[in-house]
Amino acid sequence: ERILDELADGVGRGEVPAAIFGDQEIYDRELRSVFGRCWVYLAHESEIEAKGDYVLRKIGEDSFIVVRDEQGEIHVLFDACRHRGVQVCRSDSGNTSHFRCPYHGWTYNTKGDLVGAPLWRNAFGGMPKEGNGLAKVARVRSYHGLVFATLDPTAPELEDYLGGMAWYLDLLFGLNEHGIEIIGAPQRFVIDANWKSGSDNFAGDDYHLGTLHRSVWEIGAFPVPFRENMMGYHIQASPGHSLSFSMAPSEDEPGPKFFGFPDDVAATFDTSRISEHQLDIARRSRVMVANVFPNFSILALPMTEDGANHPPTGVMTIRTWQPHGVGQVEIWNWFCVYKNMTPEQKDRAYRAGLGTFSMGGAFEMDDTEPWITVSRTGRSTAADLLDFKLNYQMGMPGIGIAKEVPDWPGPGIAYWTRYEEGVQRNLYRFYADMMRAEPGTWPKLTFE
Ligand code: FES
Ligand code: FE
Repeated sequence: ERILDELADGVGRGEVPAAIFGDQEIYDRELRSVFGRCWVYLAHESEIEAKGDYVLRKIGEDSFIVVRDEQGEIHVLFDACRHRGVQVCRSDSGNTSHFRCPYHGWTYNTKGDLVGAPLWRNAFGGMPKEGNGLAKVARVRSYHGLVFATLDPTAPELEDYLGGMAWYLDLLFGLNEHGIEIIGAPQRFVIDANWKSGSDNFAGDDYHLGTLHRSVWEIGAFPVPFRENMMGYHIQASPGHSLSFSMAPSEDEPGPKFFGFPDDVAATFDTSRISEHQLDIARRSRVMVANVFPNFSILALPMTEDGANHPPTGVMTIRTWQPHGVGQVEIWNWFCVYKNMTPEQKDRAYRAGLGTFSMGGAFEMDDTEPWITVSRTGRSTAADLLDFKLNYQMGMPGIGIAKEVPDWPGPGIAYWTRYEEGVQRNLYRFYADMMRAEPGTWPKLTFE
């Protein structure tokens, strides 16, 4: 409680207690107050296109089956048998008409209803099947095919929860009538870091690129010079949700447009679903990196698979930072492409993604090592005894060159130049509010 009070009090001054990255009690509370309540990203609809398709995903540390039923509707079912709580689904993904528990054989359909069990009449004759199905999340919604669920029946609607962030998701995922699809299975890997380090980084930590990822410029994998890449906007889209654009000052500027997506794909981007302002931002953008609170991150940028030997192509990855104990995070990483790209373009985007933002990718390897030590600092005795606070002051009034943009056309609060950490302060302010909210009450979802 003391740590959370200090966070709520200090975050406006750019002070964040290191202990939030290592304290066991804080972590236990996150599972309940953050993951147990917020809209959590689970899957993209293109992963479960056909009736009976399912994938196994997580909310906090708990497994849920995300499945499309015979009517085409998506359900999110708690993966625990109603009989003794045994895990029912034993595969990461597949297609099925039923889930059958391996222990005694209770069998559920793709809506989660109990449909039968062995020797039913002898064992359970007279007992109603209704009410004995798999438990379900409180609500499921999708946005541009992105499937979210919440365990909290008092949660606001998904669109209200996303708030201003929806406008920016439209700007990436709604650029053309086809939308996006996931290619391949998600990559998953566990590192000894706290899940918040991933969210923190993708909320707009662009400053680390010049130091930690210097090699990426040295091998020529990214087409915009570091200092130029720091030009752009930091946006607090709505409480908790933040993002960052690397952007050319004007449209006539040389360099990649539309996150580096191929020209013939970019030619299909239009304003039939988004506004002129949104299209203009996308057109001028080299990079978009975003975090939807709590743990869903998005990245679009031009990358080459092997340095200067190939021209860059647009790479889009979406990922979740799955908590796995206070000191571990399981990173889930999906690559996506616009559906109307050619097979060759999709393949290039996939390979450029693998070479950079993947388990063996040049960027990813760089990032994970520092995060491990953040977590070590967070749980250290010294951090506790010294009441050690981390500095999140970049871009505060009088600090650095970032300035609030007065006439920003989109929702939220925007800053010009990415030398700015308000995006992270926005993340931790909302985090503190969620952690301290009484059950059934919600913190403010708008800045007014
Ligand atoms: Fe699932 Fe008994 S525990 S059928
Ligand atoms: Fe990085």
